[in-house]
Amino acid sequence: MIAVSYLKSKYEKYETIKLINNSNADLIHVDLMDGLYVENKNFTIEEVLNDLKDTTKPLDIHLMVNNPEIYIPDLAKLKPFAITFHLDGTSNPLEVIDLIKDYNIKVGIAINPNEEKFILDDYLDIIDYVLIMSVVPGKGGQMFIKEVLNKVKELENKNLLIGIDGGINESTIIYLKDYKIDIVVSGSYVCMSDNYNKSINILRYKLNDYL
Ligand code: DX5
Ligand code: ZN
Repeated sequence: MIAVSYLKSKYEKYETIKLINNSNADLIHVDLMDGLYVENKNFTIEEVLNDLKDTTKPLDIHLMVNNPEIYIPDLAKLKPFAITFHLDGTSNPLEVIDLIKDYNIKVGIAINPNEEKFILDDYLDIIDYVLIMSVVPGKGGQMFIKEVLNKVKELENKNLLIGIDGGINESTIIYLKDYKIDIVVSGSYVCMSDNYNKSINILRYKLNDYL
């Protein structure tokens, strides 16, 4: 599945969301940053609820925030496909996991490039999704960090969705070919382009060896 993030785009936010929603992307990747967990702050919860209220594609919400539990009850109103948080943004990951599950939403944990896979070990049997960050979270348009792919290998035999987030474009997508990756997140490569469907198709074709 291809999830498109609208963090960095050629068009203004509403136009970008509309373009993604009308494209052949599988999911809309919603990056929420609070200016605390990461330096940048983008949207308030009210904005997110309003911006996405008319979208029809499944939402892949990525919380780059401290205290993710604060946001979950509101975000649940959007009936997202998944909500993903970072372990170091909370003092009680189990509580966050339970809260997301209570709403019948898939639970994801994101792992930063400098974090080792073992930090997930206590949670792997109770979550649905691991989002492997291939950039340091905080902004769009950064360079893909290839080394994080080692973590995919360590997770491939688990019954989990595996996502990769950051720096994916038509050159870096080929590195993913030998790995079991369910969700590829791409932001600026798609959203800075003139033709979203064409860019998404290039990613798909290159990943699946059609080109
Ligand atoms: C990084 C975000 C990513 C990122 C994707 O902080 O979580 O979702 O913006 O955008 P690109 O593809 O531009 O790296
Ligand atoms: Zn993201």
